[in-house]
Amino acid sequence: MYVHASLLFAGKQCLLFLLLLLHAFLLFSATSANIAAALDNSTDLASLLAFKATTTSGGGDASDNIIAANWTTDAPFCTWVGVRCSRRRPRVVSLNLNSFSLQGTISPHLSNLSFLSSLDLSNNSLSGAIPDTLGRLPRLAKLRLSWNLLSGPIPPSIFNMSSLVRIGLAVNNLSGSLSTLVMFPRIERIAITDNLLTGHIPADLARCSTLQLINLSGNTLTGSVSSSLGILSELVYLSMGGNQLTGAIPASIGNLTKIQYLYLGNNDLEGEIPKELGNLVNLQELYLHRNGIVGSIPISLWNASKMISLAVSVNNLTGPVQATLGKSMPFLRILDLAENTLSGGLDFIASLTKCSDLKFLGVSYNQFEGVLPDAYGNLSMDLQYFHASGNHIYGSIPTGLGNLSSLILLDLSSNELRGTIPRTLWRLKKLQLMYLGFNRLTGSIPSVGLMTNLAKISFPENGFSGQIPDSVGNISGLQKLDLSMNKLSSTIPLSLWSRIGLIALDLSQNRFEGSLPPQMAKLKGIGSIDLRSNRLSGNISSALGELQSITYLDLSNNLFHGQIPQQLGRLFNVEYLNLSHNFFSGVIPKSFSNLSYVNSLDLSFNMLEGEIPEGKVFSNVSITSMMENQALCGAPQLKFPPCPENVTTSSSSAKLRLLKYVLPSVASVLVFLVCFSLFVKKL
Ligand SMILES: *[C@@H]1O[C@H](CO)[C@@H](O)[C@H](O)[C@H]1NC(C)=O
Ligand SMILES: *[C@@H]1O[C@H](CO)[C@@H](O)[C@H](O)[C@H]1NC(C)=O
Ligand SMILES: *[C@@H]1O[C@H](CO)[C@@H](O)[C@H](O)[C@H]1NC(C)=O
Ligand SMILES: *[C@@H]1O[C@H](CO)[C@@H](O)[C@H](O)[C@H]1NC(C)=O
Ligand SMILES: *[C@@H]1O[C@H](CO)[C@@H](O)[C@H](O)[C@H]1NC(C)=O
Ligand SMILES: *[C@@H]1O[C@H](CO)[C@@H](O)[C@H](O)[C@H]1NC(C)=O
Ligand SMILES: *[C@@H]1O[C@H](CO)[C@@H](O)[C@H](O)[C@H]1NC(C)=O
Ligand SMILES: *[C@@H]1O[C@H](CO)[C@@H](O)[C@H](O)[C@H]1NC(C)=O
Ligand SMILES: *[C@@H]1O[C@H](CO)[C@@H](O)[C@H](O)[C@H]1NC(C)=O
Ligand SMILES: *[C@@H]1O[C@H](CO)[C@@H](O)[C@H](O)[C@H]1NC(C)=O
Ligand SMILES: *[C@@H]1O[C@H](CO)[C@@H](O)[C@H](O)[C@H]1NC(C)=O
Ligand SMILES: *[C@@H]1O[C@H](CO)[C@@H](O)[C@H](O)[C@H]1NC(C)=O
Repeated sequence: MYVHASLLFAGKQCLLFLLLLLHAFLLFSATSANIAAALDNSTDLASLLAFKATTTSGGGDASDNIIAANWTTDAPFCTWVGVRCSRRRPRVVSLNLNSFSLQGTISPHLSNLSFLSSLDLSNNSLSGAIPDTLGRLPRLAKLRLSWNLLSGPIPPSIFNMSSLVRIGLAVNNLSGSLSTLVMFPRIERIAITDNLLTGHIPADLARCSTLQLINLSGNTLTGSVSSSLGILSELVYLSMGGNQLTGAIPASIGNLTKIQYLYLGNNDLEGEIPKELGNLVNLQELYLHRNGIVGSIPISLWNASKMISLAVSVNNLTGPVQATLGKSMPFLRILDLAENTLSGGLDFIASLTKCSDLKFLGVSYNQFEGVLPDAYGNLSMDLQYFHASGNHIYGSIPTGLGNLSSLILLDLSSNELRGTIPRTLWRLKKLQLMYLGFNRLTGSIPSVGLMTNLAKISFPENGFSGQIPDSVGNISGLQKLDLSMNKLSSTIPLSLWSRIGLIALDLSQNRFEGSLPPQMAKLKGIGSIDLRSNRLSGNISSALGELQSITYLDLSNNLFHGQIPQQLGRLFNVEYLNLSHNFFSGVIPKSFSNLSYVNSLDLSFNMLEGEIPEGKVFSNVSITSMMENQALCGAPQLKFPPCPENVTTSSSSAKLRLLKYVLPSVASVLVFLVCFSLFVKKL
């Protein structure tokens, strides 16, 4: 036991000796200049003080200027906030001032921190250019300057830093093109999103074989996606979305077998989706939306069994969708196929019942044809968004949809649906947006019961009849109600007129009766009311003048009568005002001259009389917007007869003319006659 321990002790001594020897050897072999450089901490101090001199931190208030208060020469700089030194010598290895509310510029003297391996100044308000001297930091592995206000080009020296492993310059105002020379032998992550970069993506990027992440989205890069990128076998994340890239997606992308995330959406890409993308067995997210991609979705792609998000919307894709899609992609959360020319049946949606995490399903604006089977009710309980407008969906709305209890948006508009709205839909308590317009739905609108979260109800151009249920007016969050072009009748529920949050109300082209109640003054936030072509009657309440936010008001083609209230002249923001085809009588309120934003005013086909007021609105109205009234006058440019007052003034001016010109000439003729007769008599 003892022997054992002493042996161990001796071993340790031995090791220590060897280490000392090694150390001495190293010291000797190093040049004295090197030693001096490593031990002399004065350049680091000077660099940090130079950095401090060009920045301030905090909200401008000296008391929360952290750097000014903390970076004082009373304490060794290795204890300063954000500064970390090497354990072996007093040299700065890391400067981390992420989220310090820093303002000012980045001092070029930072490049004298020659031991620096990590520089993080993200999420500040630093402005100005990135100093090109930063490219001289020989040990820098991490450079993070994201989320600042930096502008100007990225210095080419930055792209020649052999030590760099990560570079993050996202969300700045950097411009110019990326350096064509890229020498990053150790780089793993490049994130330069959301800047103003132009030009091509450098081909040299393909030489950075250690790359795992490339994020260049949100710039204005042009050119094509280089097929050479297919060689980056370590790549897990590739995003070049939101640029102006053209050309086709190279087939070589299918070689990136480790890739999990591929985002090329929002570009001008053309050509077909290469079938090689089906080789990407680890692919979880594929975004190709908003491009000009054509052809059908390759069958191989439907085999990407780890897929979570697949978005190919807004392209020119054709052909059917694999009916077993849901079986091969059980983890699918987002499927967005909208705005293409995809065709065939909707059977694939039934297979999506296997995707228990499905949250977003978008098939709108394609050429899909068929019925919505009741199986739709067996879709994921997590489904929040279901967009299916603009297809050829016929049959009725399945009652099963009422099971999708997480649904926030349901859009079945612009299809060929028939039948009534199933009452089960009214169980969807979380529903906020419900679009069923432009179908052939009939029956009455069910009482909305529990749907207190509805913000938009849009059912135009169907065959709905009966009355609006009172309960619609009780939906506290209701912002938009569009029931236009139906056969709804009876009176508009009083509760609706006091729905304070309402922004847009369109009940046009129905058969509503009754008058507008004074309670409507409560619609303080309303921007647009369209009640045209109904059977509404009575006087218009002067309360209408309280709707100060309104920009669009159409009451035309109804049976309203009485005077147009003077208060309507207080709708200062109104741009469109149509009261035509009613039985309004009396005069046009003088207050209408105050309506300075109106660019369309129609008072035609009423029983108005009296003077057409003056003011901006009336200076450029056309005759068609005033015609067919009882007895309007004024507005000489529209050739209406002059108003009576103006007739009298003009007749008095005629008298004046008579006195001024006719009388003297008559008098002179008389004088002449008298003289002439005297002259004749004398003869
Ligand atoms: C940093 O180094 C450069 C060149 O070696 C020198 O000109 C400059 O004065 C140094 N800056 C500081 C703050 O020491
Ligand atoms: C820098 O070196 C001086 C003496 O050489 C020493 O007093 C000082 O504490 C050092 N600074 C730091 C931050 O270690
Ligand atoms: C500066 O901040 C560091 C870290 O928060 C702290 O340990 C140090 O005491 C501060 N020094 C001064 C002079 O305030
Ligand atoms: C950015 O900094 C602000 C404070 O300046 C902070 O509130 C915010 O959380 C930071 N954001 C991130 C992503 O760190
Ligand atoms: C890149 O850096 C190396 C040293 O690291 C240097 O020799 C070379 O000249 C630099 N190239 C360019 C184009 O800056
Ligand atoms: C970024 O650049 C744009 C265009 O050059 C300019 O309008 C904008 O003000 C800049 N933003 C900042 C924060 O510098
Ligand atoms: C890539 O950039 C986009 C846009 O700024 C951002 O939303 C995304 O989170 C980034 N991805 C990674 C992995 O950092
Ligand atoms: C990459 O893909 C292309 C086209 O699919 C293929 O011809 C090439 O051999 C692949 N290269 C590598 C390095 O795997
Ligand atoms: C899709 O094709 C049509 C004609 O087939 C064309 O008019 C349209 O511009 C194309 N759209 C895109 C996004 O390429
Ligand atoms: C899809 O995967 C199955 C096995 O999971 C395989 O038999 C089939 O050939 C694959 N299809 C395509 C088009 O790659
Ligand atoms: C929906 O699922 C239930 C239970 O899982 C099952 O009994 C029913 O047949 C399914 N409905 C349809 C139409 O597939
Ligand atoms: C009517 O006469 C008055 C007074 O001369 C004048 O101010 C007004 O512009 C005239 N109105 C019309 C419609 O011509």
